[in-house]
Amino acid sequence: MPTPPVPQHCPTPVELDDLELLTSGALGDDAAFNRPGSPVTLTLPEPVAAQARSVGAVELVDPEGLPLARVSWPAGVVDPLTHPQFGPFRELALTPAAYRAQHTGRTVVPLADPITTAQLEELAGLGPVTLLAFTGTGTPWLSPVGLVRATRAAAALLPDAVVVTVPVPTHGDPEADHALGVQVVEAYAAGDPVHGLREDDTDYPPEVAAVVDHDRPPADRQGLVLFFTGLSGSGKSTLARALVDLLLEQGERTVTSLDGDVVRRNLSAGLTFSREDRETNIRRIGWVAAEISRHGGVAVVSPIAPFDETRKQVRAMVADAGGAFFLVHVATPLEECERRDRKGLYARARAGEIPEFTGISSPYEEPADADVRVDTTGRTIEDALGDVLAGLREAGYLTL
Ligand code: ADX
Repeated sequence: MPTPPVPQHCPTPVELDDLELLTSGALGDDAAFNRPGSPVTLTLPEPVAAQARSVGAVELVDPEGLPLARVSWPAGVVDPLTHPQFGPFRELALTPAAYRAQHTGRTVVPLADPITTAQLEELAGLGPVTLLAFTGTGTPWLSPVGLVRATRAAAALLPDAVVVTVPVPTHGDPEADHALGVQVVEAYAAGDPVHGLREDDTDYPPEVAAVVDHDRPPADRQGLVLFFTGLSGSGKSTLARALVDLLLEQGERTVTSLDGDVVRRNLSAGLTFSREDRETNIRRIGWVAAEISRHGGVAVVSPIAPFDETRKQVRAMVADAGGAFFLVHVATPLEECERRDRKGLYARARAGEIPEFTGISSPYEEPADADVRVDTTGRTIEDALGDVLAGLREAGYLTL
């Protein structure tokens, strides 16, 4: 996302994605979050930090560039500029002050997971409750919007429950996360009772279970990215095509194929084989595949994807979209790929006619995180595909 140009007199605009924040701008209009000692960390990339130092502030903007908040530098005081203009259920994202203006005397119940049957009974005995759903990044298990839907479904089963969301992200530091969580809950409760739910099983009331199932379907209905990586001529496109045929024959899933050579003629037309352009190519494929997985589809992708780091980025993009990622390393050795040389490219690369050719004059980093590794040397397609299918069956992704 391009950052808007920075006029010299203005604070530096920063996209929220670029920051490490322990709290959110959405909470910023409450004095509780500006008090000294708040566990807030704002880590800026160096070029941005340098500019922030010279201007004395940093501006937080949404992905479209709309200013959300200003953070003074180095004091770190957060001044809200506006509220987020979009986002599902944003009317439930009350600040502590707005919440207290509307509700008092309710028991505040923080939660980050869907409410179970036993927890529902526990809550029914508490009188009026406020279900405070923590929807920041790192929310365990359900997507943030799924958590709100599940919480609303549970609230409808209680005699008197309101749902309020608060975008508290987790940071993998349990102590800091806990301290922030406590502070957030205190800001909402402001002396009203607070009730922590007991950890529980996954037995949900049917209304909640339906939301959970829709948000996180079981493995055989979850969006899936099947990622074949390997040298040119290793057999990845052939294997990918055979797998796509099987999926189409079975007819239970929607399937999109993103083959390396095909993608380079459309989605990535014009890109070269420099390291930078290959990374762009793989990230584009990953972006599309992740979106397909978001909708519960299967994306079968088969680029060379020679760089470990870029493959890992795709894995993360797919996870963010709620999809499963299955990496197949088609590990046919270079000698065999070169012996086959079906497109005559290796001969031309050896002759120096094709620069930066993978395996010859450009590296291929073997994955250490492949779910299946298959060498097609001396094997039929059916035989080699059998290894992939066995891995998929074992992981529960497909019932082929
Ligand atoms: S990747 O490195 O960016 O993942 P991609 O899978 O899209 O590569 O494209 C690889 C295909 O492009 C190969 O199968 C081959 O037909 C063709 N190709 C053309 N030039 C090169 C090159 N320098 N290195 C590798 N493959 C090349």
